[in-house]
Amino acid sequence: FFFPASSGNPDVTIARDRLGNEIKKDDFIRTRNPGTRELVQGPKGDPYYLIISENGELLSYSLDSVCTHLGCVVPWETGENQFICHCHGSHYDSTGKVVRGPAPLPLALAHVDVDEKGNIVFKTWKEKDFRTGSNPWWT
Ligand code: FES
Repeated sequence: FFFPASSGNPDVTIARDRLGNEIKKDDFIRTRNPGTRELVQGPKGDPYYLIISENGELLSYSLDSVCTHLGCVVPWETGENQFICHCHGSHYDSTGKVVRGPAPLPLALAHVDVDEKGNIVFKTWKEKDFRTGSNPWWT
């Protein structure tokens, strides 16, 4: 099932939970612990991480969990403080930057914002990648 993007704008995608429900920012923050990294439905149907900082704030960017090597979903490993792909062993730091291959590229970024109804939305990241200084490979 395809959920339409918010207001028909292809650069905006409403974050949805496993059941397809929209996610209210206030509810999300209130019911999660600081440091949470949780997978939700994001742009193009990919599972994206919403991240709550240690201060309890929703981060203004999200990471696509799809490994840039061969496309496995990359879990967050709290003890290692890294995303570690179990398929072929790539490691990414907490910002999604590659620290060990074979992954060739950092995890894709999306902006995180809130719409007029209080729902969390993703917006296409078109600016330079703050981790590498390069143009985004995902656009
Ligand atoms: Fe992640 Fe190969 S798919 S390391």
